[in-house]
Amino acid sequence: MYTLKIGVIGAGYWGPNLLRNFVEIPDADAIAVADLDEERLRFVKKRYPSLMVTQDYHDLFELGLDAVAIATPPSTHYAIARDCLEHGLHVLVEKPITLSSHDAEMLVELADQRNLTLMVGHTFAYNPAVRALKEIIDSGELGQVYYVDTVRVNLGLFQNQLNVLWDLAPHDISILRFILGAEPIAVGACGAACICSDIHDVAYLYLEFPDQVVAHSHISWLDPAKVRRITVVGSKKMLVYDDIEPLEKIRIYDKGIERLPHTDTFGDFQLNYRYGDIVIPNIRFTEPLRIECQDFIDSVVNHTPPVSDGNDGLQVVKILELADCSLQQGNGRLHLPEREVHGRDALHAN
Ligand SMILES: NC(=O)c1ccc[n+]([C@@H]2O[C@H](COP(=O)([O-])OP(=O)(O)OC[C@H]3O[C@@H](n4cnc5c(N)ncnc54)[C@H](O)[C@@H]3O)[C@@H](O)[C@H]2O)c1
Repeated sequence: MYTLKIGVIGAGYWGPNLLRNFVEIPDADAIAVADLDEERLRFVKKRYPSLMVTQDYHDLFELGLDAVAIATPPSTHYAIARDCLEHGLHVLVEKPITLSSHDAEMLVELADQRNLTLMVGHTFAYNPAVRALKEIIDSGELGQVYYVDTVRVNLGLFQNQLNVLWDLAPHDISILRFILGAEPIAVGACGAACICSDIHDVAYLYLEFPDQVVAHSHISWLDPAKVRRITVVGSKKMLVYDDIEPLEKIRIYDKGIERLPHTDTFGDFQLNYRYGDIVIPNIRFTEPLRIECQDFIDSVVNHTPPVSDGNDGLQVVKILELADCSLQQGNGRLHLPEREVHGRDALHAN
């Protein structure tokens, strides 16, 4: 069996996770790492002494590699990914694929022209719990999905080049598109830049999907507690997926409300509240990044598109662009009429 020769570009926080997986996967041979920071190169070299390390990723083009994984800051993704594709390498690039849909389109086109795999690291599309969640929705167990609510908040890590939307929302947008199997038809966002005046650190994203399914994502770098939670409310049952839970990640609640048929005796608005059992499905957990890296290798070897291909990355960036536009312009807001008294005084005015 052919063993794919792989290089990793960027060995900061996330790159070493990609590297570890490519080292451990039998069909891959991680042979080189590039990072501008010598300290990071010393770190990976200590763990994997046989690795070739370099500060200049162009050196990787001389090694006869088949593919690269790029885990550098998002502002560098486009230039590095384009360079690698132009040198005939298959590319796995971290999320967000680029910082503009124009750039993402260029990469997709280039990969198509060269018949190369272009994949984006939408890790949650490979998460067994997210996949189980999709299966539960698709099975109809929850009934018609009314709405989805996601929360992805904690304290930090603040970024200085891009706002919280570009950093954290790629995960939620890719999860929502994946589990609902549809593209959103409308997007809006609001938020605040609390610590640095020009970089939003908290955002509330609103997405409208076909069939009147609405989704809301709260993302923040400024929250006392780490929360990673998705709630799906359906016409038959409700579900909560808590990614922080080590074992019991998904709970299905047999809870709901039914509107009773109209009777003349009791008036026309009678609701029946149902409080049934809670079921915790058994999910066999494998590291999502392992599944993602394997999908990259399989797609290169078998010439098949990966689950999160370049087009997937492009769609997410298109949604992020619109959401960011809404966030910056505040165009989802309707202002209340001006009053003579404001704030606390208004409460005491009467
Ligand atoms: N899929 C996930 O769950 C997940 C999680 C964390 C981060 N990420 C993504 O991974 C990427 C990297 O994030 P991070 O947290 O590791 O950032 P980081 O800042 O910790 O690491 C980035 C590394 O890239 C290096 N670098 C920058 N420009 C370079 C260049 N031109 N050539 C070689 N090296 C260069 C830096 O020196 C640094 O070591 C981002 O796109 C981020 O969104 C994904």
